[in-house]
Amino acid sequence: MTNIILLGPPGAGKGTQARKLVEERGMVQLSTGDMLREARTSGTAMGRKVAAVMDGGGLVTDEIVIGLIEEKMKGSRGAGFIFDGFPRTLAQADALGAMLKRSGQRLDAVIEMRVDDEALVRRISGRFTCGNCGEVYHDQTRPTKKPGTCDVCGSTDMQRRADDNAESLKVRLMEYYKKTSPLIGYYYALGDLFTIDGLAEIGDVAKSLAGIVDQQAVS
Ligand code: AP5
Repeated sequence: MTNIILLGPPGAGKGTQARKLVEERGMVQLSTGDMLREARTSGTAMGRKVAAVMDGGGLVTDEIVIGLIEEKMKGSRGAGFIFDGFPRTLAQADALGAMLKRSGQRLDAVIEMRVDDEALVRRISGRFTCGNCGEVYHDQTRPTKKPGTCDVCGSTDMQRRADDNAESLKVRLMEYYKKTSPLIGYYYALGDLFTIDGLAEIGDVAKSLAGIVDQQAVS
């Protein structure tokens, strides 16, 4: 079991790389963004609150996301967890450390994906996903082979996220620099931090990640 965190701003490529690791290694992707998008469709008061916060680009409360992660960790088995978009605050990082300890597991690597803001804006504004299987595409860098049809499942239900607009992105980036980037120092101090160039092509980023996961698996 190798447990890793993918750490990076919106559009860094966390989801794209997590899906590759799931396909190629049987790891389990735990994306709090995906969990919250599922929760917002529940029609509950909590779902409506979550939707309003996400669309504005802010962070959902620590209590909600920690609860979601804890529940998913209990019900999932695989070759290790990929924490995608979690933790995002120091309180979440502490909670994750405690959860792993309680279940007799450890964190093997925190991989910071470094990408500049200009590239993030280009990536977010061109992103679309398959509404059926969740595969992530981009108008320029990763278009579908057949226009409007998912390469993976053949669905034609292509969607763009409500928070992928200039206004929300400004808030999401600010939230990242204020509340999430302190985790870089936190994990550096614990000796868990690796940094990779997230600006490289998708395949090259995947190779860098694979190198770290392989190295941690044997150590
Ligand atoms: P979440 O869903 O986690 O969104 P995010 O962190 O903003 O990250 P993204 O999904 O936007 O980007 P990504 O890094 O996965 O990039 P992707 O691979 O798609 O969170 C959404 C919201 O939920 C938050 O704003 C918050 O409200 C809430 N939330 C979630 N977790 C929370 C938590 N822990 N605490 C509190 N609130 C929480 O790639 C982007 C695009 O670029 C794609 O089109 C892709 O094809 C393309 N691309 C990817 N890699 C490359 C590459 N190397 N070269 C060129 N193009 C690339």
